[in-house]
Amino acid sequence: MLFSIAKPASLILFASASLAFPSKHGATKCPDQRAFDDFVKTLYVEKEVDAAFNKYVSPTFVNHDPNLPAGTTEQAFLNEIFPNVNITLERTLFQGDYGFVFIVVDGAPAPNDTSEIMDLWRIKDGKMQELWESLETLPAGFSI
Ligand SMILES: *[C@@H]1O[C@H](CO)[C@@H](O)[C@H](O)[C@H]1NC(C)=O
Ligand SMILES: *[C@@H]1O[C@H](CO)[C@@H](O)[C@H](O)[C@H]1NC(C)=O
Repeated sequence: MLFSIAKPASLILFASASLAFPSKHGATKCPDQRAFDDFVKTLYVEKEVDAAFNKYVSPTFVNHDPNLPAGTTEQAFLNEIFPNVNITLERTLFQGDYGFVFIVVDGAPAPNDTSEIMDLWRIKDGKMQELWESLETLPAGFSI
């Protein structure tokens, strides 16, 4: 019997990647992606925590950040630590309702630590609705 074996389709998941700025394609991005890019620049690059939260984070956003100390808010926590850390923005991705940020942070969680942090934000109508965060403290001398 003759039968054909379907060749496995090679599935290439292509995630469009771009640094949040500078962008040559701002005009073609959807409003949520433009909001996300500006949010990333304001929060992680300029470290303007209040400006970023007031403009882009929903007051009812749900925080799944396991590193957030009890009894504080993400906004208050970042206001406390951001003046003492240096942040390198490694990568952002945006797809559907989600924006992803990959940063390397010198000075967190302890003053002599360096960590890689991955933040996933869900965005709707230009406002961040949810945050998931993952943090790995890097061994001394480890380069990503
Ligand atoms: C951040 O960078 C400044 C300037 O290079 C440096 O003096 C400071 O020690 C750095 N802080 C941390 C936590 O790495
Ligand atoms: C942090 O690093 C500095 C400079 O290397 C060192 O003097 C200090 O003891 C370190 N602090 C801790 C808590 O390890």
